[in-house]
Amino acid sequence: MNQKISIIILGAGKGTRMKSKISKVLHKIANLSMIEHVILGSKKLNPDEINIVISEEMGDKVKKDLQQKYQNLHFTIQKERLGTGHAVKIAMENSQSQSDIYLILYGDTPFIESQTLENIIENSKENDVSVLSFKADNPASYGRLVTNGKNLEKIVEFKDASKEEKDINLCNSGVMAINGAKINDLLAKIDNQNASEEFYLTDIVAIAKKENLKCSFIKCSEDEVLGVNSKLQLSEAEKIFQDKMRQKMMLEGVTLIDPNSVYFSYDTKIANDVVIEPNVVFGPNVTIASDCQIKAFSHIEGAKIAKNAIIGPFARIRPGAILDENVKIGNFVEVKKSNISTGVKINHLSYIGDANIGQNSNIGAGTITCNYDGYNKFTTNIGSDVFIGSNSALVAPIKIDDQAMVGAGSVITKDIAKGDLAVSRSKQISIIKGSLDFRKMAQSKK
Ligand code: UD1
Ligand code: MG
Repeated sequence: MNQKISIIILGAGKGTRMKSKISKVLHKIANLSMIEHVILGSKKLNPDEINIVISEEMGDKVKKDLQQKYQNLHFTIQKERLGTGHAVKIAMENSQSQSDIYLILYGDTPFIESQTLENIIENSKENDVSVLSFKADNPASYGRLVTNGKNLEKIVEFKDASKEEKDINLCNSGVMAINGAKINDLLAKIDNQNASEEFYLTDIVAIAKKENLKCSFIKCSEDEVLGVNSKLQLSEAEKIFQDKMRQKMMLEGVTLIDPNSVYFSYDTKIANDVVIEPNVVFGPNVTIASDCQIKAFSHIEGAKIAKNAIIGPFARIRPGAILDENVKIGNFVEVKKSNISTGVKINHLSYIGDANIGQNSNIGAGTITCNYDGYNKFTTNIGSDVFIGSNSALVAPIKIDDQAMVGAGSVITKDIAKGDLAVSRSKQISIIKGSLDFRKMAQSKK
């Protein structure tokens, strides 16, 4: 018979060690907040309920945003933050589920693999309390597991541990699966008689033992359960995540010339045979089709790039940029919220914003779409096979029809009809021998 599972995510802790105005679990790794990493992992288990404990300060906005993005979340506000045991207790009081197993996850432990969560669920079928543990290289202030063979006797928090207990390197990840029929009784017995005067969830193990219940543990790798309590640990977590993404990308056929200098977002999607040169950064929501080249020092976010495009070096592709096949975007070019059709070339020093550019058009060096008048944004529509001469300013709203041309250095304020050539610059004059006369005059003043 399938077990009903509910998940409780703890995210209301003060996060004092982050030294930040922002709640700890809202800090981001690979451009996604830690709590969202945990929500995404939880969803994969198809639970009966996801109950997130948040603090009052996190406010309605966070709640609303998360609800909108992920749906079917249940929130519990923890007004007084009296410890992890207290947080789970009030979550249970506020729960609408009646499940066989309650899985507790911490909002500051964002990278647990789905397989590991399945393993702990499996283990909890034969145990009343199952704890996910790991062998730590440096156990620091993690809670320590006191074990007896396969049995778990208790968890001791670092602050309360004896010297011998501190020497244990089997640590508590925070993840725990608890028998749904027993959880409320056990939680009711947790007190705050300890060094921090907090209600520790971890005490539930010793309490369950006293009642002759079965407590056990499974292990996973340290990288999966790194707890983030400071900005230093945040950077370590980022590094672990990036390394995993880099490996995954390369195993899927993406070439990274210098993997350690490429940064991905949690949702970056890149097809095989894309070559990524050093020092490239991907913001959220980027999809790149096969056979593209992303040259060094490019920054890409919120963009969809079709096959065979060549981007950079030093290109900035911003949200809403949709690039069709065989597009070329060169050095010091910025593209924002624009549709760039097949075969378009924008090779040097341009800003293209709120624009639509038709097939095979060539946008000369230094072309700027003047899309903003300080109050509103306007669109630039450029047809196909258009040639825009260098250093042109296209003042939007404007339409430049198919096969039109713009002379270099023009400021274009009026629409250009199909096949027309528009030039708007002051006429050149030459002063006969003017250069020689000027030099003579200047030298005599020296
Ligand atoms: C906790 C564990 C420790 C474990 C470590 C793993 C306890 C008592 N200790 O310690 O054994 O090794 O995690 O990372 O559980 N939270 C609330 N409300 C509270 C207090 C905390 O929601 O009143 C949330 C926090 O937002 C956080 C999680 O619970 O997501 C863990 O709290 P934290 O203060 O980080 O505990 P640690 O000291 O890391
Ligand atoms: Mg922690």
